[in-house]
Amino acid sequence: MTSTDVAREALPQRIKRIAKRRLGPFGVFFEGFLRHPVMVGSIIPSSRFTIRKMLAPVDWHTCKLFVEYGPGVGTFCRPVLDRLGRDATLIVIDTNDLFIEYLRRTITDSRFIAVHGSATDVEEIVRAHGHEKADYVLSGLPFSTLPDGVGPAIASATHRVLRPGGAFLVYQFTSAARTFMARHFRRIDAAFEPLNVLPCFLYWGWKEDAEG
Ligand SMILES: C[S@@+](CC[C@H](N)C(=O)[O-])C[C@H]1O[C@@H](n2cnc3c(N)ncnc32)[C@H](O)[C@@H]1O
Repeated sequence: MTSTDVAREALPQRIKRIAKRRLGPFGVFFEGFLRHPVMVGSIIPSSRFTIRKMLAPVDWHTCKLFVEYGPGVGTFCRPVLDRLGRDATLIVIDTNDLFIEYLRRTITDSRFIAVHGSATDVEEIVRAHGHEKADYVLSGLPFSTLPDGVGPAIASATHRVLRPGGAFLVYQFTSAARTFMARHFRRIDAAFEPLNVLPCFLYWGWKEDAEG
């Protein structure tokens, strides 16, 4: 291999590195999308309008454990940490190691735990970090494109891991998640956020006190 070949081979890597540095979290998110387009399901992180609307019904005073599925580059993590009590914890779970590595490097808050894994294993993950139940679970997962059986498994594990009175918060480009949620949550509040790329559906599935 000549030195020209080496230089030519290294060029795409160099462009990627420069683009990532210039674009910051957007660059990391785009690279994560290029690596796993179906699992990521979007090329642009959620808007501040979606974040504000999605988190509005959360009772931060009683929240001790907040769990997030599919944090990506942490679009929701910072707003959640801003609202979360000093003795509370945020556990985020993502299958994409690029995102988890980025979050561990950029969010140094002691209340923050980033786990490389699947939302299907939320119960084991919550227990492994010393908790029995979660108060709220937030999901940015692309339910409509997840492999067969994964969506229903996640909805059912989420219902089990929530404490009575807690809620499953879901935002999505399609209404697919609602179908999975409806099997477990009797009360589902819904909204729509047009100021997001793409506009998205928002759902809050409440685990009723009687559901144990
Ligand atoms: C649309 S992105 C969400 C981005 C981010 N939350 C936001 O608001 O901009 C979906 C994320 O779900 C992750 N994901 C897909 N399947 C998953 C699973 N089974 N468990 C955990 N994360 C998963 C992807 O890696 C990706 O980070």
